[in-house]
Amino acid sequence: MYIVFEGIDGAGKSTQIQMLKEWLEANGFRVETLVEPTDSVVGKLIREILQRPDAETDEVQKILALLFAADRMFIMDKLKDDSKIFISDRSFISSLAYQEPVDWVEQLNRYAKKPDLLILMDLDVKTSVARASGDDTFENVEFLTRVKDNYLKLVDNYTHEIIDANRGVNKVSSDIKKAVAPYLGICPDCIL
Ligand code: TYD
Repeated sequence: MYIVFEGIDGAGKSTQIQMLKEWLEANGFRVETLVEPTDSVVGKLIREILQRPDAETDEVQKILALLFAADRMFIMDKLKDDSKIFISDRSFISSLAYQEPVDWVEQLNRYAKKPDLLILMDLDVKTSVARASGDDTFENVEFLTRVKDNYLKLVDNYTHEIIDANRGVNKVSSDIKKAVAPYLGICPDCIL
């Protein structure tokens, strides 16, 4: 099973993925976590480019869209192993939400595996700004609002659960367990 976490920056994806992993392991599942961008040479290049002052320009975003699509090809083979659960921090759905135009980005990612379950960590833009960057410029708020709206439209194309990520870590974690349990045949009353 391939479970993907998506959401705007600061939504708490990495913390929640770790908590979900530990809980699934306690329930007897084998779990491997993944992160995009990966630690491949392309992933390293992506991180370097993301630091550039011109990272948000249209030209650099197009370059990034190509690199993100290339980078995720490094993990596609691994996902064929059906003896474990893969939980990924981001996927091609990030590219659909962040880069544009969407039909081109879709083409670039045609060989990317679709998630069996998409968890959207839905966070208010104000909270994202406060938690992640502190950058509350109009452009950034406008950008994050667009990404958040894109996510809310995109999720309907996949088996998904929307989690309210504005609350405390434990409350969010328990909502995620409740959402994931039925997909794995874990009895809802057995959730700790
Ligand atoms: P991430 O490592 O999740 O950010 P953080 O620094 O919060 O841990 O992702 C890096 C940035 O890359 C993030 O702003 C989202 C963006 N991104 C895209 O724009 N498109 C993509 O396809 C992916 C995977 C990430």
